[in-house]
Amino acid sequence: MARVVSRRSPASASNFDLDGFLKTRAQVVDKALDRFLPPVTARPPTIHKAMRYSIFAGGKRIRPAMVFAAAEACGGRTEDAIPAACAVECIHTYSLIHDDLPAMDNDDFRRGKPTNHKVFGEGIAILAGDALLTSAFEIVAQVPHRTRYPVASAVRDLADASGSLQLIAGQVADLEGEGKSLTVAQLRYIHERKTSALLRCSVRLGGMSANCTSAQFEALSQFGYFVGLAFQVIDDILDVTQTSETLGKTAGKDVQAQKATYPSIVGLEKSRRIAAQLTRKAYESLRPFRGRAVALESLAKYLLGRDR
Ligand code: IPE
Ligand code: IPE
Ligand code: MG
Ligand code: MG
Ligand code: MG
Repeated sequence: MARVVSRRSPASASNFDLDGFLKTRAQVVDKALDRFLPPVTARPPTIHKAMRYSIFAGGKRIRPAMVFAAAEACGGRTEDAIPAACAVECIHTYSLIHDDLPAMDNDDFRRGKPTNHKVFGEGIAILAGDALLTSAFEIVAQVPHRTRYPVASAVRDLADASGSLQLIAGQVADLEGEGKSLTVAQLRYIHERKTSALLRCSVRLGGMSANCTSAQFEALSQFGYFVGLAFQVIDDILDVTQTSETLGKTAGKDVQAQKATYPSIVGLEKSRRIAAQLTRKAYESLRPFRGRAVALESLAKYLLGRDR
């Protein structure tokens, strides 16, 4: 009895050394990305410099951390989750480079540095994004084969999450929503696609690398969906509550660009309640793991309270 209680105790997530987890996994993913991506000396050097500039600019590496945490929850090894972790970070970084372009959000700062197009020019920034997107698929094709998940299932899942029905669809709706007053349902459509899809895919790929059961796969998918929605609500909140210095990107841009966001539609207080509610739903999705998904739980908690 005592063993059951301690195993399920929420204290296990709060005792978890998340700082250590994030640091060590970021080191693993950085080292692997350095190995996977062409060196700056490869011709033409400009493109490889531009790709590496953004990927090593200092992102939080949340999506790779999700991959590793999901793999561990399913009893997998970090090493087997490395290609998936690198692939999702390449997709994420490409999406940020393009998101910052003058034709999209027109941002000058990202990850505490001038944006890719500010340093390399728009043409090279577009190409650096394209190249990272392409690299993502070259890398994800190197996931280990699993009996329940042949390599093609990981490739296909990543393509679905980043394609014109998900991430791209969200970015399209985000652009088309500028200056309009959207309903909460329309905003949720945007968030599900532009942000939640890739976070959901990250935990799914982590599970696949561990040859997870179908029950685990379902639980991870649900967790990723809710934690991904919470992630974007929090991003919208931080845009109006934090300084550019803390964020490493220009604060207050959503109001300026007349973006539809949770704070603009339902206000700050209700946005905070929604983020907390979504995070709770994410926790509940982890029930089938019976307390063995501490890293995921701890990540969700950290993301809700983050300041950048
Ligand atoms: C920012 O993502 C873009 C969104 C989907 C909201 P992150 O907050 O994970 O950015 P980095 O990777 O730490 O720069
Ligand atoms: C970014 O959403 C989503 C993607 C890049 C797919 P935002 O436009 O809100 O992200 P930030 O605030 O610029 O990081
Ligand atoms: Mg945007
Ligand atoms: Mg943006
Ligand atoms: Mg934002």
